[in-house]
Amino acid sequence: MAVSESDILRSEVRWAMIVGVAVAVIFAAVIYTGIELHVNPPSNIETIDPKALHLSNEFTESNLGTRVEPEGRITTRIVATQFAFDPPCVVVPANEPVTLRLTTPDVIHGILVTGTNVNTMIVPGYVAQVHTVFTKTGDLLMPCHEYCGLGHSQMWATVRVVPRESFRPDAEGRVACD
Ligand code: CUA
Repeated sequence: MAVSESDILRSEVRWAMIVGVAVAVIFAAVIYTGIELHVNPPSNIETIDPKALHLSNEFTESNLGTRVEPEGRITTRIVATQFAFDPPCVVVPANEPVTLRLTTPDVIHGILVTGTNVNTMIVPGYVAQVHTVFTKTGDLLMPCHEYCGLGHSQMWATVRVVPRESFRPDAEGRVACD
């Protein structure tokens, strides 16, 4: 059967429309998940000297974990190393805005917190920052999800989400797992 030029043209137009619809659906899904479900790529670009984390003010050992800042913001700071998170357990309150700040002195790691929209890579030289609200209480698993060496599969932390009334900062504004 001979295929005429108009048949080819019609077929091309049909496929162009199908592709156009697919692109529109994907674009709409990206807009919807971004605006309604708050699933966005991390956009914080903040550099830090990975060789001097222990000397910088923010990521020194004593400053890690969850702290209520003087202005009331709740910030959790975690250092990811081969092959552990420091601290290995953090406490956050439910239904309150929380900012997670993470960095690493060695190689690229990544984290997600199961059942939440928290998902970011942790790149040496940068501070990864995620704003979120944890809605369910309980111990959530936070595994490393970027292959970082032989101990990668042993690398995880716990995010303990507690009801607002059980979230009691000490005199310095800190809250830690016991
Ligand atoms: Cu750290 Cu995989």
